[in-house]
Amino acid sequence: MTRPAPEAVTTVGIVGCGVIGGGWALHFLAQGLKVLAADPHPRAAERFAAMAKTAWPQLERLGLKPGASLNNIEFLDSIEAVASRSHVIQESTPENLESKVAMLARIDAAAAQDTVILSSTSGLRMTDMQTGCRFPGRTVVGHPWNPPYLIPLVEVVGGQQTDSDAVDWAERFYVAFGKKVVRMEREVPGFIATRLQEALWREMLHMIDAGEATPEQIDDAIRFGPGLRWAILGPSMIYHLAGGEGGMAYVLEQFGPSLKWPWTRLEAPELTDTLRDQLVRGCERMSAGRSLAEMTAERDHYLVELLALLSRSRDGEGNT
Ligand SMILES: NC(=O)c1ccc[n+]([C@@H]2O[C@H](COP(=O)([O-])OP(=O)(O)OC[C@H]3O[C@@H](n4cnc5c(N)ncnc54)[C@H](O)[C@@H]3O)[C@@H](O)[C@H]2O)c1
Repeated sequence: MTRPAPEAVTTVGIVGCGVIGGGWALHFLAQGLKVLAADPHPRAAERFAAMAKTAWPQLERLGLKPGASLNNIEFLDSIEAVASRSHVIQESTPENLESKVAMLARIDAAAAQDTVILSSTSGLRMTDMQTGCRFPGRTVVGHPWNPPYLIPLVEVVGGQQTDSDAVDWAERFYVAFGKKVVRMEREVPGFIATRLQEALWREMLHMIDAGEATPEQIDDAIRFGPGLRWAILGPSMIYHLAGGEGGMAYVLEQFGPSLKWPWTRLEAPELTDTLRDQLVRGCERMSAGRSLAEMTAERDHYLVELLALLSRSRDGEGNT
């Protein structure tokens, strides 16, 4: 199997078909592609079917590409079979450096020399993961956001041994099949979006730990406040608009000094049992007895509405 043009891919290999791998499989199926999957979990196919039951109706609402069908997925017995028969492989196995190195080496040994191998890792560096590969030049990080079948963003970055044409290929492949790519030239730990999310996560843990806010107050503060704007404008442009005619320059002049005030605490708090319980209980209160399937379906329903809305905005073209 030689590397086709990214737009000509017809078969995608999924190695690891859990929350993320299963989500990727749904995305590629909705894009009209064939999916070959491998996952040693005894109920892998059954779990995928349960996931598809909730997700597919939402993908239908969003619009399936010609030929899209849930019948186009096949579970194979081995990673090697998937790797050797796919045009490109998306690896989504558990986040552990040692096992990622072994996994990429196995895929690399079985796949044709120039087949691009993509990893969903949430924050490991490809430089560290590609060390066991014979042909590391074709290994690229393609970090999705959950659920990968609805959230457009994929962060793309290579490792020190990755060839830039493999990164180019990965970028074109994702864009051709409905993704919004943010390509990074440097391997920043946590990439861009996870790093930003971690800053918020750290502050929220501090506020709960200090008794300054409950999980409910924090969720409402984001959902009914900045969260609404973030879907339309990023944090930089929000400030630019908030500065009136003076834009970002005026904002920096006016609010720059406050950045030195102790509003943020950069150290992560200790994850004590009390803090853990406060968070878990807060989420249980907000779940109010609803099942995971119910909450996932509700999330997906509104994400589809939001994506439809965004597709009508200036930057939305091609994002859904
Ligand atoms: N969950 C998220 O929100 C999220 C978001 C972005 C990226 N990621 C990344 O995606 C990857 C997968 O995460 P997840 O949340 O889907 O985990 P998960 O535990 O839901 O799925 C991992 C799957 O890999 C399978 N697996 C284990 N060993 C395997 C092997 N030898 N061959 C094939 N499959 C194997 C498991 O059976 C399981 O189904 C991780 O690298 C994670 O960091 C996760």
